[in-house]
Amino acid sequence: MRTVYVNGEYLPENEAKVSIFDRGFLMADGVYEVTSVLDGKLIDFAGHAKRLERSLNELDMPHPEVLPDLLEVHRELVRLNGIEEGMIYLQITRGAPDDRDFVFPDPETTTPTVVLFTQNKPGLANSPAAKKGIKVISIQDQRWARRDIKTVQLLFPSMGKMMAKAAGVDDAWMVEDGAVTEGTSNNAYIIKGNTIITRHLGNEILHGITRAAVLRFAQEAQMKVEERSFTIAEAQEADEAFITSASTFVMPVVEVDGVAVGAGKPGPVAERLREIYLDESRKVAM
Ligand code: PDD
Repeated sequence: MRTVYVNGEYLPENEAKVSIFDRGFLMADGVYEVTSVLDGKLIDFAGHAKRLERSLNELDMPHPEVLPDLLEVHRELVRLNGIEEGMIYLQITRGAPDDRDFVFPDPETTTPTVVLFTQNKPGLANSPAAKKGIKVISIQDQRWARRDIKTVQLLFPSMGKMMAKAAGVDDAWMVEDGAVTEGTSNNAYIIKGNTIITRHLGNEILHGITRAAVLRFAQEAQMKVEERSFTIAEAQEADEAFITSASTFVMPVVEVDGVAVGAGKPGPVAERLREIYLDESRKVAM
């Protein structure tokens, strides 16, 4: 039984409750973050906290009182649940007014709902999937136009995962106007020679915290980085491909729409980036 955090209280998971009028439930009016835990410490916490604040601001969502203390809440949940490897999920919604209404509630009377819980994943860093690599299909990107905000509107990404599952593969890369935007819950990359290619930042993709760190480490390791759109055909002809996210770190992609990428197994650059990312992030984990 997990101990979770709801609006200032640490409770057993089966006693934690939110209102049926919560705007997260009725309108998907909420934002979230997923922060990974390695060696009982938080990875890239500062980046996730900063993006969270930006998501709140972009949606004119009031800042919950606990915002400056979120590091402590994360640490307390890690401690209470004895997490060595896994994730912390955090969600903030616009709160629960006393009726359903499209108009935002008055922030004076409706305060944000804040929920955090842990996900215990022993072996997360040493994942067998990373040794094998994953296979992806391409699908049309049918999400809304503000994907830079990390909202809880995850229906289309869920449908994308189901399409991947139905096709017998692990994930889907979404395509818009002929170019890959990102994976259903991760950023997408290809490698050609010594160059790492990943879509430029904009409203079309989430600005991954793992993406920022990996690109920085890649440049420090003298690899070339090109931030630009790429197509599925380019990915199929690339030397390597991979994805990044807080829950997968750097994960090699070995097949795109049934075509093997490079040698059809995890490539040396993706493997090295995964190693560097894990080593360097562990050094500065909080
Ligand atoms: N997903 N793009 C999308 C659409 C995402 O949902 C995510 C993260 C990322 C990677 O961002 P980061 O490196 O900051 O985790 C990119 C999380 C892990 C999730 O929804 O579970």
